[in-house]
Amino acid sequence: MASDPFADHARRDFMRIAGSGLAVLAVAARPDTVMAQTAGSPLKIGMVGAGREGGALGALFAKAGHPVMFSSRHPEQLKDLVASVGPLAQAGTVAQAVAFGDVVVIGIPYGAVEEIGKAHAGALAKKVLVIDVSNPIARRDGEDLVKWVGEQGGAGLVTAKWLPGAPIVRAFNAIGSRRLAEIAHRPGEPVGVPIAGDDQKAIAVAQRLIREIGFEPVLVGGLAMGRHLVPGTPLGGEHTPAEIRQIAGSLR
Ligand SMILES: NC(=O)c1ccc[n+]([C@@H]2O[C@H](COP(=O)([O-])OP(=O)(O)OC[C@H]3O[C@@H](n4cnc5c(N)ncnc54)[C@H](OP(=O)(O)O)[C@@H]3O)[C@@H](O)[C@H]2O)c1
Repeated sequence: MASDPFADHARRDFMRIAGSGLAVLAVAARPDTVMAQTAGSPLKIGMVGAGREGGALGALFAKAGHPVMFSSRHPEQLKDLVASVGPLAQAGTVAQAVAFGDVVVIGIPYGAVEEIGKAHAGALAKKVLVIDVSNPIARRDGEDLVKWVGEQGGAGLVTAKWLPGAPIVRAFNAIGSRRLAEIAHRPGEPVGVPIAGDDQKAIAVAQRLIREIGFEPVLVGGLAMGRHLVPGTPLGGEHTPAEIRQIAGSLR
């Protein structure tokens, strides 16, 4: 029988992660769950935020065969993006994208994530995966917010506080939108994407999606490690998977 590349990847990740002693006790208890989540038919993806990063990521998801709904507070302004991405793309309001997605990707100014939680936390808690791409950036979100996020333990823990119960994985936080399409599926070794999360099923789905769009996910730890997944930190920028593991090991 031909081997399933996703299952093979998941098995390798499982062995490596279990061996490295990261917070994967739940996975160790239920590896079957991880395998089930990695077998794959298309997943509907709701993009909350369809700007530079959300637009580029959504395009990659559609290219990999997933139906994508881009959203905006002004969805009529997304016509060009939808046309450029093709038939798997559509536009809607934020509420429509949240309802549409099996997976929801949040790529908006970090301060606005709280507002998304107030309006949609219940719906987001029922998703398979919520990918948090957003970062607290002083020049955009203000020094006070960035300081407060740091005091709370960083962006991963704050996102979890604002979206209670949501299966959050931080990913793609520090790979520039203009580079995403260029480096996806690059020949040879793929670019690594550091990810942080606490929900093992969500992590498995994130790993599958990241591989499908041409990168190699590297789980660096739980959401508390999400504080390192922002631009300007050692994990920021483009690294090989091995480099990410090495850097993450020095950050614990
Ligand atoms: N750009 C990058 O290279 C990059 C890389 C990694 C991570 N990120 C992170 O990704 C996030 C988005 O960055 P970006 O560069 O894509 O920004 P952007 O181009 O300015 O786009 C921002 C998006 O957020 C939406 N938005 C803003 N306020 C909102 C609200 N209150 N409710 C719902 N949607 C709202 C906007 O939609 P409307 O049409 O409704 O205004 C727009 O689609 C940031 O947190 C950033 O740090 C960016």
